[in-house]
Parts: sequence; C-alpha cells; structure tokens
Amino acid sequence: MRTVVIAGGTRGIGGALAARLRQRGDRVIALGSADADLTSVAATDALIRRLPDRIDTLVLSAGAFSPQRVETAEGFERSFAIMVLARYLLAEGLRPALNRADHPMILSLTGTGGIKGGVIHWDDLQLTREYRMMRAVLQGTRMNDLLGAGFTRRDPTSRIRYVLYNPLFVDSGLHRHLRQPTRTLLAVAARLFASSTTTAADRLMPLLTDPLTIPPSGPPTVPPAGPLTVPPSSPPTAPPAGPLTVPQAGPPTISPADPPARPPTAPLTALRRGTPIPVDGPDFDPVDADRAYEVVARLVAGVLSS
Ligand SMILES: NC(=O)c1ccc[n+]([C@@H]2O[C@H](COP(=O)([O-])OP(=O)(O)OC[C@H]3O[C@@H](n4cnc5c(N)ncnc54)[C@H](OP(=O)(O)O)[C@@H]3O)[C@@H](O)[C@H]2O)c1
Repeated sequence: MRTVVIAGGTRGIGGALAARLRQRGDRVIALGSADADLTSVAATDALIRRLPDRIDTLVLSAGAFSPQRVETAEGFERSFAIMVLARYLLAEGLRPALNRADHPMILSLTGTGGIKGGVIHWDDLQLTREYRMMRAVLQGTRMNDLLGAGFTRRDPTSRIRYVLYNPLFVDSGLHRHLRQPTRTLLAVAARLFASSTTTAADRLMPLLTDPLTIPPSGPPTVPPAGPLTVPPSSPPTAPPAGPLTVPQAGPPTISPADPPARPPTAPLTALRRGTPIPVDGPDFDPVDADRAYEVVARLVAGVLSS
C-alpha cells in the first residue's frame, strides 16, 4: 500500500485528491492547519518528525492568500512562509522517507512556468517595502519552480521525481480570502469558468498512479488507524502523534475504466495542466535555482538553529 502525505489535504484540490487516493486504497495522511501551522518553520520541522519513515508521494498543496501583509512570529511574510519555506522544508526533511519508497514522487501544486509578473524580489523577499497579494503569490510560484529545480540539482542521482503542476483555475473557494467586490466577482467567475476540485483531482490521478504500485483487487489491507511513527531521536517537544491518524480507506476502486497510468519518469517535470513546460527554460535557470535554494536553506536554518 502506498503512503501519500498531502500538505494542504484537508480542503480544496488537496482535499479532493485525498478522497480519490483513499478510494484507490492508498494510505493518505491529509494535513491541514489543525495538524500543524505550515506558516511556522519550527512547527513544520516538528511535523516532519511525526510523519512515517517511508513515504511514496508527498503532495505540496498548502497555500495562503492575504490581501494584507501578515508577518509570522518568525518574521516572514505569511504567504512566503507557507508557499516557499514550508515546501522547501517538507521536501528536504522528507527526502530520507521518500528515498525508502520504490517510486517516490513530490507533487507541488503551484502556478508553474511562464507566469507573467512572477518576479523574485531578491533584495526584499519578505515584501516589506511593497506588499500586494498577487505580488506575493506570483513571487511564491516563481520560487516554487526554482525549488523544484534546486531539489533535483542538490542530488542529481536521486530517484525522487519532482513534479510541478499548475491546475489553472479551480473553484476551491479562493474568493473567501478577498475583499468585496472582488470576492463576489471571483466567486461568480469561478462558478462559470473554473474546474471543480474533483475534476482537478481526477486530472492529477494518472500522474500519481504508478502501475507498479496499484494495489491488487480485493479487500484493502488498511492497518488500523494509529499513531504515526515517531523516530526515537524526536525531541521531547514534538507534539503527540494523536490527531494525525490515517483514516480508514474504502475499497479500492481501480477498474479497467481508470485512466492509464502516466507517471513522469524525469527527475523534474513541469506541467500546466496537461501541457508540459520545458524545464530547461529561464523559469528553471540553474543559477537562480541554486541561489533560491541557498537563500531559503539559510532562512530555514536561521530559525531552526535559534
Ligand atoms: N485554486 C486554483 O485556482 C489554483 C490555481 C493554481 C494553483 N493553485 C495552487 O494549488 C494549491 C491548492 O490550492 P487550493 O485552491 O486547493 O487551496 P485551498 O482550497 O485554499 O486549500 C489550502 C490547503 O492548505 C491548508 N492550509 C492553509 N493554511 C495552512 C496552515 N497555516 N497550515 C497548514 N495548512 C494550511 C488548508 O488547510 P485548512 O483547511 O485546515 O486550513 C487546506 O488544506 C495552492 O498551492 C495554490 O496556490 C491553485
């Protein structure tokens, strides 16, 4: 049975994907803000130690939108903290657990590739001088592209496939973050033009359906929901592993009618829905990727060493 961890799996696209994967018979650990505050580097680091030591797929779907600049207790702009620092930390912190899987994958849901206006403000990453919601979101999506490139560059021999995926416009209730009248306008536009979260999840399933790991038909062999493995080296400050139990999965629903498995095999793949984005283009520039990785690593280390 595959173990899938979804950061941002309690709602929206991640929530719909969690439901689909459970139907398939996967063991899904869907994380939301009740499990850990992913805007906090320290809380994300503690969460990593509560997760299983073997993970097949890590889905990075947690995001946050804020019309006003909000600074976390650790001194980061909130959307940068959840979109960039948490994704870096989860990917690197769970690298050993992913390396224990047969066909490990990281799927990062973002606005990948060729986003106009997506600029990295290297001299003011926390947007202290000029904050606008879209400025923060677009910087975050550009950074996500570079984090994918940086992850594969850090260990070019890794078996972990990193997939950046832009689902385009999905009606996940994003308008709730906005002020009126934009809130109503976006809600109406979403109803008219956006995909539903279940459609978005269905589109993702073939990426995550590895033919070598499809469970056999028959009753699922789901272990009883229990605490997540906490390695003996975990510090005493790690919160108890109570709430992150694995829900019981329903029977697998694999059938010949399911879409064919098309998991990517390249170390780094970028997709705008079904359309591949070349990963040798300027969005994935190796110099920028190394720079982003070093800057983010330093910011994270600064918190964890204090
Ligand atoms: N929707 C779109 O049109 C669209 C388009 C392109 C890219 N994307 C990207 O796709 C991803 C998913 O989008 P979505 O629209 O499905 O998002 P969403 O509906 O807003 O769901 C966000 C998820 O993140 C979790 N989360 C938020 N703040 C958190 C925190 N502080 N700590 C831990 N978890 C937290 C939420 O958990 P709780 O419910 O427990 O708070 C929820 O599970 C995002 O990264 C987004 O940028 C979306």
